[in-house]
Amino acid sequence: MAIGVFDSGVGGLTVHRELTRRFPERDFIYLADQANAPYGGRGGEEIVELTRAGCERLFEAGASVVVLACNTASAIALRRLQQTWIPSLRERLGRPVNVLGIIVPTIEAATGLPWTYEAEAVPEGDKVAAIDITGVFCTAATALSRVYEIEIDKRRHDLAVFAEPCPGLAGLIELGAPVEELSVVVSDHVDALRRKIGRHPDKAVLGCTHYEIVAELFASALPAGTELIHQPTAVADALDRYFAAHPEYALGETGRRDFITTGQAGAQSALVAQFWGEPLTFEQA
Ligand code: DGL
Repeated sequence: MAIGVFDSGVGGLTVHRELTRRFPERDFIYLADQANAPYGGRGGEEIVELTRAGCERLFEAGASVVVLACNTASAIALRRLQQTWIPSLRERLGRPVNVLGIIVPTIEAATGLPWTYEAEAVPEGDKVAAIDITGVFCTAATALSRVYEIEIDKRRHDLAVFAEPCPGLAGLIELGAPVEELSVVVSDHVDALRRKIGRHPDKAVLGCTHYEIVAELFASALPAGTELIHQPTAVADALDRYFAAHPEYALGETGRRDFITTGQAGAQSALVAQFWGEPLTFEQA
C-alpha cells in the first residue's frame, strides 16, 4: 500500500518532493491528470468528477491515502468526496482509505493557528485594524471559491486577505514555458495585486502547487523580505501528524516511487527537470 499524490499535472511534484524527503522509506504513487490539465478554468462539477476519477485510479493502484496536491481540487472537490464518496468506497474496497487536501495545512501556516481555532466574533461597533496583508496567488477556480479569505478571516481578524487569480500561469508551467516568459507573467500578477491592495502584501501564499516550481520568480518580483508561505513543508508537517493519529492506514515501506500520467507518457519538460534536479519520466496511467 502506498501514499498517492494527485494533481492535474506537474505542480503536485512540489508537494511530492517534500513528502518523500520527510518519509523516505514509504511507497509513493504520483498521478498527473495531464490529459485534463489545467483544472483552474474548469467548472465545479467537472473538477469534482476529474478529481474523483484520479483518486479512484490511485486507490486501484494500491494507495491507501491520497493527498490532493492541488489547491483547485482541494478547494472545490475535497469536501464533496469525503462526504459523499469515501464512505461507500471504503465499503467497496473493504479497507481504510482517505483523501486529504492541502488547504487546511496552508491556512494553519498562514495564520500560525491550529485549524480548530475560531476567533471570537468582534463586538459590534468595534473596529479591528487589519495590520497585515496576505496575498494569495492562485487559479481562477480557487479564487472564486474564496476559501482562503473565508477561512483566514474566521481565525484572524487582524489579517486582510487579497487573492490574485493567475489564469494561464499553471498551463504555461505545465507546458514548460521559458523562464523569461514566466517571469513576465509572474511580475504582471505581482503588480496587479499591488494595484488592487494599494501596496505590496506582507506575506504571500503560493496557492497553486504549480507556482512553487517558479517560487524564485515570485520571490524576486515581490519586495525583498516578503514572507512566502510554502505549501510543501506545511503539508508534510500535517501529514506527519495525521499518520501519528491514524495508524489504521497500511503504508508500504519499500521506498517505491511510481509516476503515472493520464496524458502523454515520457520525459517531462526541462523546467520540471531543473526543479527536480534530474530528468523525470512519467509512465502511462
Ligand atoms: N496545481 C493545481 C493547483 O494547485 C492546479 C492548477 C491547474 O490545473 O489549473 O491549483
